Parts: sequence; C-alpha cells; structure tokens
Amino acid sequence: MFEFDYTNAMASRVGEHGLTDAEWAAALAAGRPAFDAVEKDAAAGKTGFRKLPKQDSTGIARVAKSAAGFENLAVLGIGGSALGTTALASALLHPWWNFAAPEARRAPRLFVLDNVDPEEIAGFLEIALPERTVYNVISKSGETAETAAQLLIFVNALKRRLGDRWREHVIVTTDPEKGFLHHLALREKLPSLPVPPDVGGRFSALTAVSLLPLAVCGVEPQRLLAGAATVEERGRDAAFKAAVLYTALYRKGKKIAVMMPYSRALRDVADWFRQLWAESLGKRKSLDGKDVYEGQTPVKALGATDQHSQAQLYNEGPNDKLIAFLEVSRFRRPCPIPAVFEDDTCKFLGGKDLGELLHAEKKGTERALTANKRPNITFRIEGVTPETAGGMLHFFELMTAYAGRILNVNAFDQPGVEAAKHATFALMGRTGYESLAKEIEREAPADTERRVERI
Ligand code: PA5
Repeated sequence: MFEFDYTNAMASRVGEHGLTDAEWAAALAAGRPAFDAVEKDAAAGKTGFRKLPKQDSTGIARVAKSAAGFENLAVLGIGGSALGTTALASALLHPWWNFAAPEARRAPRLFVLDNVDPEEIAGFLEIALPERTVYNVISKSGETAETAAQLLIFVNALKRRLGDRWREHVIVTTDPEKGFLHHLALREKLPSLPVPPDVGGRFSALTAVSLLPLAVCGVEPQRLLAGAATVEERGRDAAFKAAVLYTALYRKGKKIAVMMPYSRALRDVADWFRQLWAESLGKRKSLDGKDVYEGQTPVKALGATDQHSQAQLYNEGPNDKLIAFLEVSRFRRPCPIPAVFEDDTCKFLGGKDLGELLHAEKKGTERALTANKRPNITFRIEGVTPETAGGMLHFFELMTAYAGRILNVNAFDQPGVEAAKHATFALMGRTGYESLAKEIEREAPADTERRVERI
C-alpha cells in the first residue's frame, strides 16, 4: 500500500549529508522513548486523531445525502478546517471536477473558500448562486474571524433570496460542546456534525471536517478510514522511522523539508502537510518550558512543474534541505503520447505514455539530487484510492506526532496562531479585546521610525 524509501538519505549515497549506519542506529535508539511515550498516550485514549480510523461515519453519510442534490458545495473554513478537504478532493475527484458536466459528476461542484479576500468572495457570489449552493461552515473552535465573516456574508445573501429557508443551505461542522458555531447550530436548528474535542484542526482531516464534503462528492468515508486503520495497525514503525530520519537530518542542518509530489492528484497533500509540519513542530517552548525555537521549514513543490522552477536551487544551492518525493506507481488512467512528428525533439516520446514520462522525470531529479549529495526520500503508493489517500494522511499525522516527541515540543498546540487570531479580534473591535487593541496601537512605529520607499 505504502512505501517509505530512504535509501538516498544514507551516507552511502550522499556522503556526510546523509546518515551513517551508526548515526541511524543511534537516532533510532534515542527516539525509542519518544515512540513509547506517544504510544502510551494513544493507548490511554489521550490522542484524539488516533481514534479516528475506528469512528462510526454513518451520521456523516446521512448528512451528505441531504446535500448531494445542490449544484454547489462551498466549504467555509481556514487552516486545518480547509486544507485536508482540498488535499483529498484533489486526490480523489476528477482533476477537472468543477468543469465536468453535471451528468458526469452527479454531485455538486466543490469550492473550498479558505480566505477572506474580498474579490474572491464577492466573485464567488456571482458564479455560485446562493439558492443553488449548500454551505458547509467548518470551524473547530467555532470562533475564527475569517470563517465567521464568510458565514455572515453567505447567510445574508441566502436570507435575502430565501427568507427563513436559508437554514436548508447551511451545515455546521464544529466542536460538539462549545463555541459560537455550536450555539448557533443549536439556536437555528442547523444540521451539525462534530469535530471531536480532542482532535486539533490540522489533525482533523479524517473527521467530518473533510469526510463530509468528500462524501457529498461521492467518496465513501469508510474507505478513507479503512486506509487510515491499516496504517494505524501496520504503519506505526515506518512512521516512527520517518520521524527519526526527518529529525536526525534536521539536527544535521537540513532545516528545510521539501515535499514534491510527482502526481497532480497528490499536489495538495504537500500543502496540507506544510501546515501539519509547520504548526506542529514550529515551537518556541520545549515540553519542559525552555526556549528552544524548534521547527523545520516545510516547502511544497510539484514535479515535474517545479523542476523548471526550484530544481536548480535544490541541486546547487545551500545543502540545507531534505527532499521528499510523493510517487504513485500506477496512474489511474493512461494518456498515450502519439507519434506525430519524426523530428528528434519529439520522436522518442511518440508511443510512450505521459505516466512514463512523469516517472522518468522523477527518476532523473532523484538521480541528480543524489549525485549532488542532496538527501532525498520517496513516499510511494501503488495508486491513488480513498484507502491510500486516507492512509497517507494518517501516516504523516503519526510521523508528526512522533517527531514532536523526539524534538520535545508539543505537536498539538499552536500558541503562535492563537496570538494572531486575538490580534485580529482586537483590530476588528471585538468586545473583550479593548486592552489588546490599545496595546497594538501603542506598539505602532512612530513616524520617525518608519522606513518606506514610495514610487
Ligand atoms: O491546526 C489548527 O488548529 C489551525 O490551523 C486551525 O485549523 C485554524 O486556525 C482554523 O481554526 P478553526 O477550525 O477553529 O476555525
């Protein structure tokens, strides 16, 4: 189902930029207590995302049915409430899903609105009529300003067109016990699905957060969960080894982790992983309260596109990166390259398949990086299916949990994100944030301090 190939991260392949057998053995031994601690927490039921593969998804399937007849499904959410859905939709829906004929799709167009850019949202109201759209508003905390602002805009548009029937167009996904959205759903009698209280935003892809939008588009939640269950059962050791490898190379100076899928379907997994890795490991404080400023910077790239954009830097720039390829052994459909011209530039391509070309591009990049002593690894799946996609996300979540313990930071909080959220509340005049608003005003640079060039 899933392979983690780290051959090219070893010293035998990339010299001092990789790990010697002795370093690898030492890193595995040093990481073992972290593995045990993570497993102990999971066994005690303290790690919410570890329970997700066994969840009952019948409630999700039921709500999904009620939304399937709409022309559009708009997901309103940000960060962990959006990125998993985008990743799974790219992986599992037709690559041109929203452009496909309705008879071919037989499910709504899917839009993940994860920002508050006024042009984007105002434009969306023009291309997706509210009366033909169901809005799935997703927020674990139920308090996020961006998501609340989107909700106000769309509910207002629905009310103007449909009056009290606006409620038939809104589905809530949020914490089942607290937060504005939870209370709104109760008050307005909106259908509501839970994000388990012990599952944080970036670990919530395999909850209703992403399972519902995908189910509305015809992807069975059980299949995603079955893949995650397989990884939970058989993939923990590999995820631990991957965490050991990433952290050991980070300690050896590989401060940047590039994820480069050679598959359009997995393109947004790299974007989802970027949040998971950055928010989970980028921490000022260690678990014992010391200032440590940990974190490896995740970067997303796409093969073969970024060979023509980033590969120069990866091959010849600073040797400060670990490059992870995501590879698919078999693409779901062929696309033969016809033999049309006899010229040398094209002749060798004719009669081959685009999949063959993309695999050759990946091999070529891997070879060049290895020759340049750049450590690189490959996560390989047989093919993209709901099972392998669910399994892959669960694998990276496990890897992140282990890496957090190895680095001795809390992988499950995000104090840096909270600080910016509160500052936004203060700047936008939310009650209770008056003193923070004053503090922000006081901190503003004096006119004499400003350095701005104007043209
Ligand atoms: O991982 C996280 O916790 C964050 O990125 C959140 O997902 C993000 O801030 C959105 O929060 P919420 O789902 O509460 O609206």
